[in-house]
Amino acid sequence: MIEGLRKDGPVVVVDAGNLYAGKAALRDQDRAQQLAKGRLLAEAYALVGVDAMLPGAGDLALGITTVRELARAHSLPYVAANLDCGGAVFPSSITIERGGITFTMVGVVGNAAKEPGCRATEPVAAVRAAIEAAGPADVVLVLSGQKVQEDDALAAAIPGISLVVNGQERQQLEQPHPLPNGGLLLSAGSRGKQLGVLSFTLTPGATSWRDGQVLDRLADQRESYRTRKAELEKRQREAKDDPSRERLGKQVAFFDQKLEGLEKSLTDAGKQAGPAHRATNRLVDLGTELADHPATAALVAKAKVLIEAAEPVATVSAVATGPFAGSSACTGCHAEQAQQWGTTAHSRAWASLVATNNERDRACFSCHVTGALHPDGPQDPGAVAGLESVGCEACHGPGKAHVGNPPTVEMIAKPGVEICVGCHDGKQDGGRFDAATYLPQVAH
Ligand code: HEC
Ligand code: HEC
Ligand code: HEC
Ligand code: HEC
Repeated sequence: MIEGLRKDGPVVVVDAGNLYAGKAALRDQDRAQQLAKGRLLAEAYALVGVDAMLPGAGDLALGITTVRELARAHSLPYVAANLDCGGAVFPSSITIERGGITFTMVGVVGNAAKEPGCRATEPVAAVRAAIEAAGPADVVLVLSGQKVQEDDALAAAIPGISLVVNGQERQQLEQPHPLPNGGLLLSAGSRGKQLGVLSFTLTPGATSWRDGQVLDRLADQRESYRTRKAELEKRQREAKDDPSRERLGKQVAFFDQKLEGLEKSLTDAGKQAGPAHRATNRLVDLGTELADHPATAALVAKAKVLIEAAEPVATVSAVATGPFAGSSACTGCHAEQAQQWGTTAHSRAWASLVATNNERDRACFSCHVTGALHPDGPQDPGAVAGLESVGCEACHGPGKAHVGNPPTVEMIAKPGVEICVGCHDGKQDGGRFDAATYLPQVAH
């Protein structure tokens, strides 16, 4: 993807962190695998070529020593103006020139970073000093591990900030968030599922940035309101009785009011017209329809083999030790439900991981296995035997006691949405969950 963009013109590649672990707290048993993935990512980033990176809270979770080692081993361009681990760890900023434009990239970590011995110092002073030390630049880009409100405050205090790339809040902002100083805040979601691509042209003398799509979007909306208003007016003219005419008149008035508001927004947007830099942002899905970068794909395949080999496989099955019986224990008495369940994606959830060679991945098994991370369920991907896939007990609760004595031990009879969203969490599933259409597909 990035190689393709580079063919079209100069490109600056940045990453705002939370690459290695994704979250600030790691379970001890997940550390070794997370480290293996960290190494893979560091190697892959070096291969693709990145211009500046931020050590996010989810990177520092591996330990500052490890982050430093990876940075050194792969010459990764980390920046962090306010990360103090008994002294500065990384440069505050990096300045590069691309296509005749000078970019200064400054890193600012947030308070979520929990690495012992390190702290995030006051961001405004640190970023201001970094920008001054770097000297004049056409574009000042801040890589942020802060909350969006904190970035707003930073931009309000430092007008020279052009763009902020936020890696902490993981929002999918196809439409950038406007900063109080006229700059733009960008964020491309989580888990590497999307790449944010901002294309821009600089306007001489301008200090603020304008999302080129805003005006287009407003104009499109005005067009659609005008069409609907015209339809209503036509129906009003043809109406047979007064009550209908009156009802339609109210609807026309509603659109009049909407149009008035839109006109105002359009004029306002045009007014701040002054000179502005023009930007267009898009989020590109990095799904299977995009071909893999061959060299990176080879690294991933190699890392998966190592991860697989390093992951211990339990000798005792999870079903033998815990309160879960496994779906096969239910089918004898509930054949109809089992038959229907067999037709759903849940019965194939483990196969999906196997197909992509991710069944030993500690970041995947929890939602593709029954009872995973339940206090008495499987805690590790090598200890899931008998509980693979999203089985009966993922929704109805542990069932071993019920199997032994069905009439006296009740199960959850009607699992509700609160159970679904434990896995359909709005992030890993791409936000596809919709109770109204999803529930009927699993009820039996
Ligand atoms: C030996 C037969 C048997 C097995 C095995 C069995 N059940 Fe049941 N199950 C029953 C009977 C009988 C009832 C009805 C109990 C009642 O109406 O009081 C029932 C009721 C249920 C209900 C309805 C809710 C309720 O408590 O009334 C659910 C859900 C359920 N079983 C799930 C499961 C699951 C999941 C498994 C596997 C872990 C399982 N059952 C294994 C016999 C069985
Ligand atoms: C233990 C985690 C888990 C729970 C709990 C869970 N699901 Fe799922 N669900 C999954 C996974 C994983 C998949 C994808 C399986 C695959 O294709 O590999 C899935 C897929 C689905 C699909 C198919 C989506 C598609 O179009 O392919 C539907 C529908 C669905 N779930 C509905 C529900 C509903 C409704 C509930 C709650 C009653 C629920 N799920 C509870 C993990 C879960
Ligand atoms: C937080 C729970 C959760 C985790 C963790 C999780 N998944 Fe899933 N996965 C889901 C759900 C829910 C779906 C079904 C989404 C839908 O279609 O609505 C799904 C669907 C899938 C599918 C089939 C449909 C598709 O989108 O292609 C695959 C393959 C998959 N997951 C692989 C993985 C891998 C690989 C990992 C680890 C990197 C992982 N999952 C981690 C919940 C999870
Ligand atoms: C994704 C969640 C989910 C999974 C997995 C699941 N069920 Fe259910 N089950 C439900 C829901 C939701 C209902 C309630 C349906 C309704 O009220 O229409 C239900 C109802 C039931 C009932 C009660 C039916 C009744 O008439 O009262 C039984 C028994 C049952 N399921 C057994 C099973 C068995 C056995 C399996 C595994 C083979 C299984 N379920 C897997 C969600 C699930």
